[in-house]
Amino acid sequence: MKILGIDTSCDETAAAVVADGKEVLSNVVASQVEAHQEYGGIVPELASRKHIEAINYIVSRALAEADVTFKDLEAIAVTNRPGLIGALLVGVAAAKSLAYSHGLPLLGINHIEGHIYANYMVHDALTFPHICLTVSGGHTLLVEVHKGWQYKVLGSTQDDAAGEVYDKVAKYLGLGFPGGKVIDQLAQKGNPSAIKFPRPMRNSGDYQFSFSGIKTSVRYFVEKARRAGVLVENGQEATKDANPDTVTVEDIAASFQAAVVDVLVYKSIRAAKSTSAKAITLTGGVAANSQLRASLKIAAAEIGAEVYYPPMNLCTDNGAMIAGIAYEKYKQGLRDGLSLNAAANGSIVDV
Ligand code: KG4
Ligand code: ZN
Repeated sequence: MKILGIDTSCDETAAAVVADGKEVLSNVVASQVEAHQEYGGIVPELASRKHIEAINYIVSRALAEADVTFKDLEAIAVTNRPGLIGALLVGVAAAKSLAYSHGLPLLGINHIEGHIYANYMVHDALTFPHICLTVSGGHTLLVEVHKGWQYKVLGSTQDDAAGEVYDKVAKYLGLGFPGGKVIDQLAQKGNPSAIKFPRPMRNSGDYQFSFSGIKTSVRYFVEKARRAGVLVENGQEATKDANPDTVTVEDIAASFQAAVVDVLVYKSIRAAKSTSAKAITLTGGVAANSQLRASLKIAAAEIGAEVYYPPMNLCTDNGAMIAGIAYEKYKQGLRDGLSLNAAANGSIVDV
């Protein structure tokens, strides 16, 4: 059973054809990152316009690469929540028009459910219930995932998403946008104990997160170090002998990353322990982080749990994960009418 999945929730125009929830026949993504780069972050209005330019082409590419036509499809699925409202509306309008004109059932999908499903598409050994940590530029969410795609949201960020904070810290350090990957790489050359950044809410006793405090702390640290002339940046050689206060961008990246990863790992493990889940899945763009993967694996091994993450093209925003979860929803009887609307917010328990 082949489903076309469309996602335009943020800054990627994505469409894919997936058979029976798992067999990815095509997975086409047009990234807008270059268009947003000069602004140092995503500009919602620009995202909507770029989606409009790309959507028809991306859908036809997805069909062509899967070697199918609309006649071969069983349904059309589209992310309709949560996300940037103007961006979501483009995908929803496209999906509604296509469903109507080709007489196909339409399914509105929650973007987070897509991210959660991504691991299931590639890891046959994944057991239920499991704990899923979704960490991206827009989300930080810890969820208990039960059979039948039933969820219990354990906690989420109270302010910035983890990826958003990576991007902001990269901006303070003049490293461009998006910043996650470059910080990850610099951190590998730095000392994670060089600076003690705060770990907000680590010991709050619940599963909520807060990252804006880490962000502000890094910002003040960087500004102060620059003013004092002790920040070594742009590949300069550190001359620690000359000034003992000298700090490198690599040390800041490593110390910042240590703070973020510490909180994420601590709460994920705590969640797995309290629910006796034997698996923890990582998903979203920040799931690419080398330190997060490594630390979580070590901590999970200590409690006898497995860690899973999907390949990068299923980790970041894509249409395949939407078509994938739509297959499960289709079997559960979900159908939406042409009155389907987009929503900026939308918890996964409201499905
Ligand atoms: O899932 P995604 O592609 O888009 C959404 O935000 O929905 O995630 C992008 C985020 C960005 O904030 C980016 O900086 C971050 O994922 N990211 C990383 C890494 N690679 C991408 N963060 C930390 N370490 C990485 N290696
Ligand atoms: Zn996403």
